[in-house]
Amino acid sequence: AARYCVFGNPIAHSKSPDIHAAFAAQTGQDLVYERRLAALDGFAAAARQFAAAGGRGANVTLPFKLEACALATALTMRAQAAGAVNTLSFSDGEIHGDNTDGDGLVADIVRNAGVAIAGKRVLLLGAGGAARGAMLPLLEQRPAELSVANRTQAKADALVRQFAPLAGAGRLQACAFDAAGGVYDIVINATSASLGGALPPLAPGVFGRDTLALDMMYGARPTVFMDFAAGHGAQVRDGLGMLVEQAAEAFLVWRGVRPDTGAVLASLRAAL
Ligand code: ATR
Repeated sequence: AARYCVFGNPIAHSKSPDIHAAFAAQTGQDLVYERRLAALDGFAAAARQFAAAGGRGANVTLPFKLEACALATALTMRAQAAGAVNTLSFSDGEIHGDNTDGDGLVADIVRNAGVAIAGKRVLLLGAGGAARGAMLPLLEQRPAELSVANRTQAKADALVRQFAPLAGAGRLQACAFDAAGGVYDIVINATSASLGGALPPLAPGVFGRDTLALDMMYGARPTVFMDFAAGHGAQVRDGLGMLVEQAAEAFLVWRGVRPDTGAVLASLRAAL
């Protein structure tokens, strides 16, 4: 069997082994996929060791996505744009770094939620690693507007400057949380605020009845962002679909086949 794993610290609660086992069963691929706890100062050594022992690829989660980017000997466009790697492939001594998080987000919005991004007004909250990873895949969908709001506005400005060459004139801009302009079609929370039960100081007017409000976080209960958005009429979605879709994209990178995600997402949802 081809061997894969996910590196993180902590890693015990990662759902990736269950997701990839379900994908392998569904597609008839002969692979095993394990959790690997790497020491905080031991990620690169652990990844090299896994590759030397015959491992074919690995997912990378917190806090190692930047180190995985540095470790790679070649990077895809989307990994370069994200400045982070969540998917490594090992072959012939090469370490290929990819990032499937942003395309997983887009797949969840477009395929699972059934909401087109093309031609729409999109508000992205946050300017950290999660937001950066979403930028290129979102822009590739050609939204009418992509506005980026962040608590530290200089970081939103820097993100917009980085991606401006890839966006049409006027399509990409930084804005303040509370000065965001009118109703958006899609509002994506890529801040880590939900983790601490906090809510960015959003203008409620960004939400309308047809707004899709997506939090990249997930849990047994809706996040404060989801409650706030729902309270102002929006359709809400958590990050569980993104999690499953980024895994499906990684499976495609490694195995050349993209699994169906619906059944896996439903069973993860039932187990939350
Ligand atoms: P990640 O990889 O999850 O994006 P990160 O790179 O540390 O993590 O970025 C965290 C993001 O959440 C940042 O955009 C951060 O805002 P700042 O750049 O101003 O720090 C945002 N964030 C975290 N806690 C927040 C809060 N309570 N309210 C608003 N934004 C918050």
